[in-house]
Amino acid sequence: MRVDLGNALDSVASPGVSRDALSRLDERVADAHERIETGRADDEHGYAALNLPETTDTDEIRSAVEPFADAETVLTVGIGGSALGAATLANGLDSDVDAYFLDNVDPEHVSALLDRLSLSDTAVNVVSRSGTTAETLANFLVVRDAMESANVDWTDRTFVTTGEEGNLRNLADRHDLPALDVPDGVPGRFSMLSTVGLACAAIQGHDIDAVLDGAHAEADRLAGSLFESPAYAYGAATYALDERGAGINAMMPYAESLETFAEWFAQLWAESLGKDGLGQTPVRALGATDQHSQLQLYRAGPSDKMVTFVRPTERADRSIPETDLPGLEYLGGGSLGSLLSAEFEATEASLAASGQPNVRLEIDRVDEYGLGELCYCLEAACVLAGELYSVETFVQPAVEWGKRAARGLLGGGNFEEADEVAEKSTLT
Ligand code: PA5
Repeated sequence: MRVDLGNALDSVASPGVSRDALSRLDERVADAHERIETGRADDEHGYAALNLPETTDTDEIRSAVEPFADAETVLTVGIGGSALGAATLANGLDSDVDAYFLDNVDPEHVSALLDRLSLSDTAVNVVSRSGTTAETLANFLVVRDAMESANVDWTDRTFVTTGEEGNLRNLADRHDLPALDVPDGVPGRFSMLSTVGLACAAIQGHDIDAVLDGAHAEADRLAGSLFESPAYAYGAATYALDERGAGINAMMPYAESLETFAEWFAQLWAESLGKDGLGQTPVRALGATDQHSQLQLYRAGPSDKMVTFVRPTERADRSIPETDLPGLEYLGGGSLGSLLSAEFEATEASLAASGQPNVRLEIDRVDEYGLGELCYCLEAACVLAGELYSVETFVQPAVEWGKRAARGLLGGGNFEEADEVAEKSTLT
């Protein structure tokens, strides 16, 4: 895993950050690293997530999903941090077992998906740390009903991943469903490397040890200087660029298989750092597709953003047939991979030429190891940035507020947030 900050320096970018400023910031990075290491050593809430490469028991995950070895499809019912890590792996890696995710409660989408699936060949993984999230539990009730209507014994096809208490834990106990524990001290958006993110990958036959190996390698690169640690280089640079006006961070991987990763990153960055009037706004983009849409703004719009490129340096390629069609000869005989690389290099250079800061993250391949490295790197970068901003990275009061308000409005309990919504409602 490599991080290249060259195009974020103030010699080429505005807003940009000077090497001297980064060196000065490095003193704070050293302090933050010490704080992070103390948190990890004491398994403190949130910091414990950075220990998952060592603490996650992959044998336990594999044996919990063993009853679903025959599944042709895995359906994860969960939302936010209880879905996006698993989805990043599922959409990043090829498998003969299809993976679907029910996070939103859009009735048309839910019905269309359930109509399409062969539920008797599906393993259903219901994931909720709290065990109380309305969207997840409602979707699960709908899935269970669909299974019953299809004469599928849902208790044979369902397992849960949840905390020690809550409605979901009660349900698992009552029906003796296989259950995996969400580890203590690991907030949803930092849970990809735990039971939460890895169970679906295990059913799909992915090498979950390799995911953790990649993450482990990145954990070993954490050091008390941003000049020695790719994760801290990225976290510190984004913080410094934000302070200088790059309040938007467009995550633009050059691999179709990383499109969901950009969504995962957006949650990580927004929910962890968006506090006390601080935090960058993450935007999702995809190279080369968004060269034909968002790039116009990135190059010529306001100087209030940075672009983060992610690219694998190796990938399976596909040749472009030779052609004598006039004007297309330059494409024939080449490959789609070289074309994508050329598109990437042109975009990176064009942003640099117009002074727009950009950072490049490189992995060797989009495989289990590469995804483990990449996601751990960004989690550690996020924790570091949280220390530099001095925000509470591991809480999400605004998200919890919305959850309580929705439950209250639906009659799921007395929550003052719901009263506040009712009072402020302008609907007549
Ligand atoms: O990161 C977070 O804390 C959130 O995105 C949660 O993961 C999300 O709200 C789902 O919560 P739960 O796992 O309790 O159902």
